Amino acid sequence: MLKDLFIGLSQNQFLNSAAKKYGLKLGAQSVVAGTNIEETIKSIKELNSHGISCTVDNLGEFVFKEEEAIEAMNNILAVIEAIHEHKVDAHISLKPTQLGLDIDYDFCLGNLREIVDRAKQYDIFVNFDMEDHGHLDPSFQILDELSKEYDNVGTVIQAYFFRAKEDIQKYQNYRLRIVKGAYKEPAELAYQDKKEIDRNYIKLIEWHLLNGKFTSIATHDHHVINHVKEFVKRNDIPNDKFEFQMLYGFRKEMQLELAKEGYNFCTYVPFGNDWYGYFMRRLAERPQNLNLVAKQVFNK
Ligand code: FDA
Repeated sequence: MLKDLFIGLSQNQFLNSAAKKYGLKLGAQSVVAGTNIEETIKSIKELNSHGISCTVDNLGEFVFKEEEAIEAMNNILAVIEAIHEHKVDAHISLKPTQLGLDIDYDFCLGNLREIVDRAKQYDIFVNFDMEDHGHLDPSFQILDELSKEYDNVGTVIQAYFFRAKEDIQKYQNYRLRIVKGAYKEPAELAYQDKKEIDRNYIKLIEWHLLNGKFTSIATHDHHVINHVKEFVKRNDIPNDKFEFQMLYGFRKEMQLELAKEGYNFCTYVPFGNDWYGYFMRRLAERPQNLNLVAKQVFNK
């Protein structure tokens, strides 16, 4: 119930525009690294000082105006320049709908090509985040197109989709982030039961660890993390074949602990004013995250 409510709220265009005007509120400031590049680079340097690398996300999604998509592209290009200039350990995560996927396929492809091309000049990796099922095929298609020219691209496999096993096999030679999946998807396309999603999640991680290129295991679930630790040990999978990823501001101690234990660790660092949809999805995933809201409302 709460999950559906927050996912519904995450897609509310009116609230999304209102939130942009009012700045970081409702506790979002504890899970968003900053509103501008300068603040974000500072957060990245702090994480890097603990041996943690970062993937930077210029917040925003479901953009329907060309000028907004161009603005997003320019922001991401500026982040790439800043990563290079400050020599921080970071790469890019982006959402194709922010770069115009709902406006026009070729327009979006052009924007993504410009980003991937600039990143390639500095040897920076670009990850295409995966969104809801309606955007899956065109996002994969853009990835196919760009990987004919560039090798610094990868994507996400969402374990709740029945098609995930097929996709992971197809993209075996890519650097892949594997997640459970964050959107509300129909029962014809995706597992709905948490146990089934978790089971498929583990299966996909194991498969890619054994057969794939590089695996980013993106989860806050300690059961999964402990399972992976055992699995890599049992199968002699070296540390340089995988990393753990978590979102900025969540399970901070565990993030530091994993890095200290010698695992590659990468924090997903979102920044910008377009925080609303991202934050609502975090509330949908874990209603306990409402604590963040409560703290902000009552600790005035
Ligand atoms: P889940 O929410 O299933 O929780 C499992 C258990 O872990 C909980 O019962 C609890 O015991 C423990 N736990 C979880 N969070 C905790 C916390 N904060 N504190 C204490 N215990 C906690 N999705 C998508 O569709 N497309 C994408 O591109 C991405 N990208 C992405 C990148 C990164 C770095 C991450 C971490 C996640 C994503 N996701 C995503 C989101 C992903 O699909 C998923 O919705 C969330 O990670 C939530 O699922 P978890 O596996 O983290 O644990």
